[in-house]
Amino acid sequence: MKVDVILGLQWGDEGKGKIVDVFSPRYDVIARFQGGPNAGHTIEFDGKKFVLHTIPSGIFHKNSMNVIGNGVIIDPVILFREIDKLREAGMNPADNLLIANRAHLILPTHRLLDAVYESAKKDAKIGSTLKGIGPTYTDKYARNGIRVGNICYPGFRKMYESLKVLHMQIINSYGSDTGSFTLDNLPFDEYEALWFESIEKMKELKVVDAEVFINKSLAEGRSVLAEGAQGTMLDVDFGSYPFVTSSSTVAAGVCTGLGVSPHNIGRVFGIFKAYCTRVGSGPFPTELINETGNRLREGGREFGSTTGRPRRCGWLDLPALKYSIMLNGVDSLIMMKADVMNPFEKLSVCTSYRESGKLLNSYPFELSSEGLEPLYTEMEGWNTSLDARNSIADLPLPLKNYIKFIEDFVELPIDTVSIGPDRLETLQRG
Ligand code: GDP
Ligand code: IMO
Ligand code: MG
Repeated sequence: MKVDVILGLQWGDEGKGKIVDVFSPRYDVIARFQGGPNAGHTIEFDGKKFVLHTIPSGIFHKNSMNVIGNGVIIDPVILFREIDKLREAGMNPADNLLIANRAHLILPTHRLLDAVYESAKKDAKIGSTLKGIGPTYTDKYARNGIRVGNICYPGFRKMYESLKVLHMQIINSYGSDTGSFTLDNLPFDEYEALWFESIEKMKELKVVDAEVFINKSLAEGRSVLAEGAQGTMLDVDFGSYPFVTSSSTVAAGVCTGLGVSPHNIGRVFGIFKAYCTRVGSGPFPTELINETGNRLREGGREFGSTTGRPRRCGWLDLPALKYSIMLNGVDSLIMMKADVMNPFEKLSVCTSYRESGKLLNSYPFELSSEGLEPLYTEMEGWNTSLDARNSIADLPLPLKNYIKFIEDFVELPIDTVSIGPDRLETLQRG
C-alpha cells in the first residue's frame, strides 16, 4: 500500500478537515504530517460542528487510527482542549490516537517568542496565529527542541528550564516587558502550570514510533491517508515568502513528516476553494477589497477557524493553482464552497498576470511586486441554489462550464465538488 495525501493548494482553509472526514471511511489510518495548532480544520455532521487543531480529522470514524506524525508540533494545552471537547461530545479520542515520539513540543515561551518577533516586525508583520509555530520549528532545526518522547525522562524539567532560560534571554534582548505577557488570556505562570498538567496527561496517551507504525501498516496492506495543514501558498519554500508558515506544506513534507519513502506516496488529492481566501498578511493578487470581496466573506463565513480573524477574499487564481499542482504532483482535484458563489451573476477567474506591461509566462518570484496585475476571464455565474443537487452531472450548466474551464486550464479532473459545510453536501464523480 501507499500513502494517499490530501492537501491545500491555496492559502489554507480550503476545507481539508471536511474532506478528510468524508474520505476517512476508505482509510485505516489518518495522519497529520506537519504544522501545529495554527491549523483549524472544521468538520460538520448531524448538526454538530467541531474544529480540530492538532488531532487528525479522521477521529470521528471509530475504525480509523489517527496519527499525529513526527513533522507536527504540539502544544499539550491545546491538544487537551481538543481531547476534552471530543470527550464532552461522548467520544473517547485517546482510543484511536497515536502520537509520534519524535514530534516537537511547543513551549509556552515559544508562544511568547512568536509574539515578540511579530511585534518587532512592526509594519511587516506576518500575521502569525501566535501559536508558537515559527519559534518551535526554529528550535527544531537549531537542534534545541524538546520532543514528545522526552516527557518521560527524569531530566525533562531540566531540559524545559534550560530552553526557557534561552528563550527569556532572547525576549529580554528585545526589551519586552515579560510581566505583562498573557497566553490565551491567562497570565504566563498559569498557562505554564496548565502546560505541565497537560504533559502529565500526555503520558497516558499512546506515544509511539509513528514512522514504524505507518510503514508497518503499509506493509500489512492497511491504507493510509496523510492530512495536510495550511496550504501550498504558505509553504516555507514555495509560498509567498516571508509571509508563509514554517513547515513544508507540500506533498514532499509527507516523507519527512511521517517517515515514508517517496516510493510510498500514492494518490495526491489537491483541495481548492472555488475562489481564494487568505488570512494574515502577504501578497494576494486577486484580492477584492470591495463589495464583491465582502459578499464572498459573508456568504462563505470566511472568518478564521483558529483566530476568528476575517479572511481576505478574492477571485480564483489559476496560475497560482497550476503552480501548486505542479509542486505537489496532484492527481485529482477537489473544489470546495461552490455554493458560496450561488448569488453571483458574473464571475471572474485570473488566467495570467501582467508585470510592468509584459505578460508573464510563469509564476512570479515575487507576488507582491508593485506592477503585478492579474488578468481575468469573465464567466457567467450559475446564480441559483445548489441545495437539491445530488451529483456533479446534475449541477447547473454555468457551474459545469466553470468546472470545465478550470479542468482545461490546469489539465486535471475535478472529481469532487463540495456544495456546503456538511459531510453530506459533497458530490463525487463515479
Ligand atoms: P481547513 O483548514 O482546510 O480544514 O478549512 P477550515 O475548516 O479552516 O475552513 C473551511 C470552512 O468552510 C469551514 O467553516 C467549513 O465548515 C466550511 N466549508 C467547507 N466546505 C464547504 C462548502 O462546500 N461550502 C460552504 N459554504 N462551506 C464549506
Ligand atoms: P489550516 O490548516 C490559513 C497563516 C497565518 C499567517 C501565516 C503564518 O487551517 O488551513 P503561523 O501561525 O504559521 O506562523 O502563521 O500562515 N496560517 C494559516 N492560514 N489556514 C491555516 O491553517 C493557517 N496556518 C497558518 O494566518 O499568515
Ligand atoms: Mg483552517
